[in-house]
Amino acid sequence: MSESLNLSPAHPSAPEGDGVVRHGRAKGEPRFPDGPQADPAGSHFERRIRSFQPRRSRVTAGQAEALQRLWPRWGFDIDGQRVLDLAELFGDDRPVVLEIGFGMGEATAQMAAADPGTNILAVDVHTPGQGNLLALAERHGLTNVRVANGDAIILLREMLTPDSLDGLRVYFPDPWPKKRHHKRRLIQPEFLTLAAARLRPGAIVHCATDWEPYAEQMLDVLTAHPDFENTRADGGFAPRPDFRPLTRFEGQGLEKGHVVNDLLFRRVPHDGRRG
Ligand SMILES: C[S@@+](CC[C@H](N)C(=O)[O-])C[C@H]1O[C@@H](n2cnc3c(N)ncnc32)[C@H](O)[C@@H]1O
Repeated sequence: MSESLNLSPAHPSAPEGDGVVRHGRAKGEPRFPDGPQADPAGSHFERRIRSFQPRRSRVTAGQAEALQRLWPRWGFDIDGQRVLDLAELFGDDRPVVLEIGFGMGEATAQMAAADPGTNILAVDVHTPGQGNLLALAERHGLTNVRVANGDAIILLREMLTPDSLDGLRVYFPDPWPKKRHHKRRLIQPEFLTLAAARLRPGAIVHCATDWEPYAEQMLDVLTAHPDFENTRADGGFAPRPDFRPLTRFEGQGLEKGHVVNDLLFRRVPHDGRRG
């Protein structure tokens, strides 16, 4: 997990275009001087096996503007160099739910608006999505969202303290369908052990996927893990709860005829006693 890897730039240069910010930057020049950095943890904390793929990402003018203006207030880089005080980050001590892989952030913004009593720590590496979520947060007056840029594993491992999270959401994580890529799937026993160390007893882990083999894997590893118990008495998948909006990836999966499965598991007490 802690092997180092030198990354090539995730966002290669491209010519100028209408309403889209393309970058003719010199090598090493930051894309957004006051915004998210391309490789915030550097090679020291970078993992060889990553659950995400650096994408060529076109940032619209609106997203770029939101990043420049709002990142210093609501965003931060996952540099792995400091431990976060979540009450200080959010400005209050409301419960904090971590969402890993918010994509374009529409569902995140909807959930934050519907539940202002919960703070959402939203993490992704996807720059356009970070800009989009910041813009949505401002437009809807959301004060309970913070945007983290980088690898969620490093955030969990290096920057969050035991029992600091009241929930974890992983909606439509990259399915990595090829067998040789299965090791890149996020929901694995080692990941769950790390997440369990940051979740308070009673915290809910909520996963959803439209890739059925991955759903089965999620069910298997969550069921087998001693730190979690299924909230479903029948030990199976859960119906989509009303509080989870349809996400962008989910919509694309449904158009292809995919079946969506939700999983709702609870962090058991530290002595391991199940409810
Ligand atoms: C398939 S997309 C789903 C996005 C969104 N949840 C949806 O349903 O529309 C998965 C997202 O997870 C992000 N991701 C995967 N692994 C990650 C990690 N370790 N840390 C941060 N983001 C990650 C990817 O960058 C990508 O944006």
